Amino acid sequence: MATTKVLMVCLGNICRSPLAEGILKSKIQNLDVVVDSAGTGAYHVGNLPDARSIAVAKKNGIDITDQRARKFELDDFDTFDFIYVMDKANYQNVIRLAKTDAQKSKVKMIMDEVDLQKGISVPDPYYGGDQGFENVYNMLTLAADVIVNKIANKHER
Ligand code: 4NP
Repeated sequence: MATTKVLMVCLGNICRSPLAEGILKSKIQNLDVVVDSAGTGAYHVGNLPDARSIAVAKKNGIDITDQRARKFELDDFDTFDFIYVMDKANYQNVIRLAKTDAQKSKVKMIMDEVDLQKGISVPDPYYGGDQGFENVYNMLTLAADVIVNKIANKHER
């Protein structure tokens, strides 16, 4: 079974997608999975995750300080098997870069993986307080649990 490659995408790649990357990595155990993250915008390229994302991850035993923001690039469509976006704006920004149906079909709203949360966006916490980051952390934990199970089932077959 080949390595499963998952890319988490948000706008800045400093708040939501670094948490999504860190949380999923914390759950993959011995599965053959590569996880990365990127932003559709370039404002924060090269930067550490937001201090509030670092803090909520750390509180939950996850270190995301090895991450640096990068911009989503066209090659990502071919490199990754699953491209998870956080909200509808991210979805539009990524989909409009896709050239083929195969590329488009890799792109999914991350909360669509969770029953009862389909179509829900992970809200951008950048201009809010710490509670927004807690909320993002909790939402992404739900999604990561489903994603890791999905990958584990695939590896079993
Ligand atoms: P993210 O949050 O997309 O979850 O990383 C944001 C970070 C920065 C900005 C917007 C959203 N910004 O406009 O700089």
